[in-house]
Amino acid sequence: MADMRIEFSGITLKNPIIVASAEPSNSVENIKQCIDYGAGAVITKTIGDIPGMQQLTKNSKYAILNDQGRIIKGKVPRSFIFYSRSGYVSEPAADWISILKETQAYAEANGSAIIANIASGTLQGWIELAKMCEDCGVPMLEVNFQCPHPAGMGESADGIWIAQDPDVTAVVTRAIVEAVDIPVMVKLSPETNRLTEVAKAAIDSGAASVGVNSRFVGFAVDIETAQPYIDGPAGVGGPWAKYITQRWINEVYREVGCHISGSNGIFDWRDAIEFIMSGARAMQVGSVLMLKGIEWLPKVIEGMERFLDDHGYTDVASIHGIASRKALTTAPELFAVEPVYTLIDHDKCKFPKCNICTRMCFYDSLKEGKDYIQTAPDTCIGCELCLNVCPFDAITMTTDKESALKSQQKFAENTVETTVQAAQ
Ligand SMILES: Cc1cc2nc3c(=O)[nH]c(=O)nc-3n(C[C@H](O)[C@H](O)[C@H](O)COP(=O)(O)O)c2cc1C
Ligand code: SF4
Ligand code: SF4
Repeated sequence: MADMRIEFSGITLKNPIIVASAEPSNSVENIKQCIDYGAGAVITKTIGDIPGMQQLTKNSKYAILNDQGRIIKGKVPRSFIFYSRSGYVSEPAADWISILKETQAYAEANGSAIIANIASGTLQGWIELAKMCEDCGVPMLEVNFQCPHPAGMGESADGIWIAQDPDVTAVVTRAIVEAVDIPVMVKLSPETNRLTEVAKAAIDSGAASVGVNSRFVGFAVDIETAQPYIDGPAGVGGPWAKYITQRWINEVYREVGCHISGSNGIFDWRDAIEFIMSGARAMQVGSVLMLKGIEWLPKVIEGMERFLDDHGYTDVASIHGIASRKALTTAPELFAVEPVYTLIDHDKCKFPKCNICTRMCFYDSLKEGKDYIQTAPDTCIGCELCLNVCPFDAITMTTDKESALKSQQKFAENTVETTVQAAQ
């Protein structure tokens, strides 16, 4: 069995799957359940000091949409869109002292850990909440610099606003880090094109890691009733978001080089593997546990284990960032890629019954003949779209332009004939 332990922000997790701050971690019972089902760590739902955000949770609304924008009833498929609005824990922060103590003791006894997630409307509030949680014995904090909803509260400049600005992020991070001895993870927002800068500001100000990232804010419409779903804008996420998350994980991994916990878009173990290969050391799962039930959690962990075993990896740490390190990112790297040309295996090609690739080549490099497809290596740019779409594996690419030209010559007549016929 592959070793699933991973060192993250200075603590060792028994596995890299963390339950994200959300409804599955909003009470003692729910947190203990996450631990029972094998969570490497559990991040509490945000403990905050903004009354509106406590009230908002009492007015929570959730809708699950399908890829046609309709409400999903029954079993939730992989392609879900989770559209929802909720705030922080609805109890006053002080009520969480006993909850954190009890759940941390339970976590410790079961090889897991509690990460307390906090948010405040004032700098002093951030400091007090951080100290309160540290005094409860939790080994790590996550600071919620990304929640979109306080923006509508008119009470403070917290949540999403902090993670949109590297300078504000630096000030708040430094104040929290200086107030406590435990590691601090800064949770970022995807609602900025400066995410990497913000991540760097957090790390330079003493954060142990960053959470990349939370959800987007969206607006979903029921076209039958001409009404917005759940009365207006809301947080939106789902597995569709994972490629955007991975873009940021890859960028932060390469440019900041810090510990990252990936969040936003994990459905199953495959996504978790993609996140870790992109550069996340730990992964957070939230929505999918709400929609598939807590029993989904061990499936993610066991699926990862199985993948590692099947592929001969001895430990999960060995796949961390392996895909990111292979990525080409700069223009000179991209321009240095050797040109390739299309080769068609006419025994496998089903033309004229199939013409999927010819419709997709916008470089005039796949011409339809009478019986065969003719390639044109002189105009082919080697984009590999045809290779990727052919359902019959009839296309390969070669770096040898001469052989590509030669191999197609015998079909040239066939093409010319067609052209002439078409002209007549
Ligand atoms: C219903 C719901 C409630 C959430 N509540 C919080 C919260 O209290 N604090 C927080 O930092 N993030 C919160 N989040 C964001 C999640 O922690 C997580 O970052 C996000 O949902 C993306 O991960 P996912 O695709 O696994 O759901 C919430 C998300 C959802 C869907
Ligand atoms: S590789 Fe691109 S340009 Fe070349 S034939 Fe295929 S689709 Fe056309
Ligand atoms: S997609 Fe494949 S099978 Fe279809 S025409 Fe192109 S090469 Fe032939």
